[in-house]
Amino acid sequence: MQYRKIGKWGVKLSVIGLGSYLTIGFKIDKKTTKDTISKYYDSGVNFFDTADAYNNGEAERALGECLSGFPRHNLFILSKCWAPMSDNINDRGLSAKHIIESCHKSLKRLGTDYLDLFMCHRPDPDTPLEETVRAMEDLIRQGKVLYWGISEWPAHLITRANRVAAEIGARPITVSEPRYNLLYRFPERNLFPATEAEGIGNVVFSSLAHGMLTGKYKPGEEAPKGTRAADNDTNTIIKNMYWTEDNIRKGQELVKIASEIGITAAQLSIAWCLKNPAVTSVITGATSLSQAEDNLKAADIEIPDEVINKLDEIYPPVETVESEGK
Ligand SMILES: NC(=O)c1ccc[n+]([C@@H]2O[C@H](COP(=O)([O-])OP(=O)(O)OC[C@H]3O[C@@H](n4cnc5c(N)ncnc54)[C@H](OP(=O)(O)O)[C@@H]3O)[C@@H](O)[C@H]2O)c1
Repeated sequence: MQYRKIGKWGVKLSVIGLGSYLTIGFKIDKKTTKDTISKYYDSGVNFFDTADAYNNGEAERALGECLSGFPRHNLFILSKCWAPMSDNINDRGLSAKHIIESCHKSLKRLGTDYLDLFMCHRPDPDTPLEETVRAMEDLIRQGKVLYWGISEWPAHLITRANRVAAEIGARPITVSEPRYNLLYRFPERNLFPATEAEGIGNVVFSSLAHGMLTGKYKPGEEAPKGTRAADNDTNTIIKNMYWTEDNIRKGQELVKIASEIGITAAQLSIAWCLKNPAVTSVITGATSLSQAEDNLKAADIEIPDEVINKLDEIYPPVETVESEGK
């Protein structure tokens, strides 16, 4: 396994992380969960991603149960808050009340004394940045959180939050968690330059575009049974964001390019994300041990420049700024 610093900060993460959205504590059974987590851990992975909202706390519970078998100092555990956790008006967002209460609940569900990283899952326009930054600083001073970060915030808001932190003597954002894959290259435009300027690392999610970049979906065919696209409980994002005939066809081209260099399309897609120096780690997800094994191999792949050029032709960089910060 290879490790990278988070931006300018001292702590190092494995270049492959394991996530828990729609998998751990939800789609996959206990044995597969245990085997998958052990496989990642035994391969040198130290980075595990979760959130309170993943199946309403069940992902944190299932992940915490399995991770409790490993020495705590070998783990870097990230959880998040922001999403509504009940109908209560304050059980959501980034107020000090919700951030601090959420942290306590996540610690309990995960069965740990501290979170390595606590993250604001999305921005909260109802709460001033100063309140959010101070709440994170308070948790850090109490030793309940070591670093804090944000997910899918626009670049300008990240820069502003760090200015606020500097003004009030609080710790700045350490990590950003954006969506990033061959079909979604927006972070290259504004986000990566902004995070690089701030010394912030990026841990990226959806590197396989929910499975679209594995070649498992074939033109003119139904999604195979058991896949994310075939299941109405899990297919909202894949169907709304990526599901076009053209993207399915490109997936087959990706398989061909990958096989020419002796790897799988999933490995190529993950290794492509890692080629970008703004990326600290790729948070992968897996529903089987064979997927876990496949994804882990991406850590050691160096993609030749001519392959990168071919990928740029099929999946071109974004030329226009469609959304500030993406
Ligand atoms: N911060 C955020 O807002 C945010 C949002 C989303 C995710 N995340 C984090 O990032 C993690 C990964 O996100 P994601 O699930 O969107 O990632 P992804 O890697 O794009 O998709 C993962 C899914 O692709 C399929 N897959 C994985 N490896 C495969 C392989 N080698 N071959 C074929 N199919 C494979 C599996 O689904 P099937 O087997 O069911 O087809 C798996 O559940 C999540 O678990 C979560 O921790 C964060």
